Amino acid sequence: MATFQTLPGFREFYPEDLIRRSHIFRLWRQTANAFGFAEYDAPVLEPLELYKAKSGEEIENQLFSFTDKGGREVALRPEMTPTVCRLVGARASALKRPIKWFSIAEFYRYERMQKGRGRCFHQFNADIFGEPGPEAEIELIALLIQCLGAFGLTEQDFYVRLSDRNLWFYYLETLGLDDARIRGVLGAVDRHEKYGDEAFKAYTEQFGPLDAAVKEKVLAFLHVKSLSELERILGAPGAEKITARLADWRKLLGGLEAMGLARFIEVDLGVVRGLAYYTGFVFEAFDRKGELRALAGGGRYDDLVEKLGGPALPAVGFAIGDMTFALLLEQRGLTPNLVQAPDVYCVIGGEAERRAAFAGIHALRAAGFRVEYPLKEVAFGKQFKAAADSGAKLALIYGADELAKGVVKFRDLTERSEHNVPRDQILAAVRDAIGGRAG
Ligand code: HAM
Repeated sequence: MATFQTLPGFREFYPEDLIRRSHIFRLWRQTANAFGFAEYDAPVLEPLELYKAKSGEEIENQLFSFTDKGGREVALRPEMTPTVCRLVGARASALKRPIKWFSIAEFYRYERMQKGRGRCFHQFNADIFGEPGPEAEIELIALLIQCLGAFGLTEQDFYVRLSDRNLWFYYLETLGLDDARIRGVLGAVDRHEKYGDEAFKAYTEQFGPLDAAVKEKVLAFLHVKSLSELERILGAPGAEKITARLADWRKLLGGLEAMGLARFIEVDLGVVRGLAYYTGFVFEAFDRKGELRALAGGGRYDDLVEKLGGPALPAVGFAIGDMTFALLLEQRGLTPNLVQAPDVYCVIGGEAERRAAFAGIHALRAAGFRVEYPLKEVAFGKQFKAAADSGAKLALIYGADELAKGVVKFRDLTERSEHNVPRDQILAAVRDAIGGRAG
C-alpha cells in the first residue's frame, strides 16, 4: 500500500510540538496586546494579482499558485503585507488612528529548503498605518525586540540591523544614478553579503558595468555601521532632504535609546531588503552568532496601500518567522519544558461509582479545571499509577466506601496528604487547593 508523507517543506505538529508553538504564539500575542496592537485575520488563498509586481520577483517566483475551478488565478499567501493593506485600505477613513494591527498566521513559499526555511511557516506580523514619521518605527522596533525578549533572549542573543532605503536613494542620486539604476544597485546591495562581487552581475547585464568610482562609493556606503559615519559621508554641503533625513535618524535612534533598547540596534547600511515595496527605514533581526537566517524583517512601505487601490496611507511593519526563532530558543536552552498535566485525576471504583463521579467531573470541568479519568473500568492500582504519571496535583477517589458515606477521598499528590470531602463541597475544596481558574 502506498504510504503518504507530507509534501517536502511542510510541517506536522504532534501535540508535544504544538504545545511549544502555542507557547510562542501566546507570548507574541500577549506582547502585542501590551503595546496596544489589535489582532486581525484574513484568507489563506488570495487572488494571484495581489502579489504580482507588488511583493517582488523573488516572492513571485516562490508562489504556490493555481487556477481554481471558477477559472480564477489564485495563490496561497506568501506574506501578509498586501492583504493587510487591502483590509486597512478598504476602511481607512473609519479606522481610529494610529492603526496598530497584528496577526499570527501561516504562509507558503516554494523555497529551497534549508535550516530554518520551509515551504510553510508562521509569521507574527505587526504594522502601523497612518503615521509618516519615525515614531511608528520606534514603536515597531520596540515591539520586535520585546517579542524576542519576552522569551528571555537578550542583546547577547540577537540584534536588529537598521538601514534606510531613502538615504540609499538620496546618496545614489548624488552619485548621478537614475531611478532604474538605483534599484539595480540596491538589488546588488541586497545580495552582496551572500554573493560578494557576483551580486553586481544582474546590474552589469542590464546597464553595463557600474562606474568604478561609483562602485567604490557604493561598497563604502554598504559598510557604514554608525550614524556618525553616515553623517560624515552625507553631511558635507548637505542637501535639504538629506539633512531632514538625518534628523529622522536621530529621532529614531534617540527614541530607542530612551526606551533602553540602543544595545539591540546596529546601524548597517548593508541591509536594504529584497521585497519590492519598501520605501524608507528597513530593519532585520539576526542571531548574534550569525549562524541562522534572519529572525525577522520589516520596514516602511508608504506606497503599497494606494497601489492596491486604497487611499494614500503611510505604513510600516515587520514579521517574525517561527522557524528560525524556535531554533534560536532551542540553541539557547530557552524552550520551556511544557507539559499539560491535569489539575485533577479521578480514580473510580466501578460502574456504580462512575455515575456519581461523572457529576463531580462535569462540575469541575465547567468551572475550568482540567480533569481526567479512565474512560473504561480499570483496576484501582493502575488508576493510582495513571494519576501519578499524569502529573496531576490532586486525585479524587470515588470508591464504594466513600460514596456510602457521601464523601470523596481527596488526595494531594504533591503534598502526599489525604482527607475526605463531602461530595457537595468538592468544587470548593479543589478551588482551595489549586486556586481559581479563568478557564
Ligand atoms: P520577509 O523578510 O520575507 O518579510 O519575512 C519575514 C520573516 O519570515 C523572515 O525573517 C523569516 O524569519 C520568516 N520567513 C520568511 N520566509 C520563510 C521561509 N520560507 N521559511 C521560514 N521562515 C520564513 C515579509 O514577509 C514582510 N511581509 C514583513 C513585513 C510586514 N513588512 C512589513 N510588514
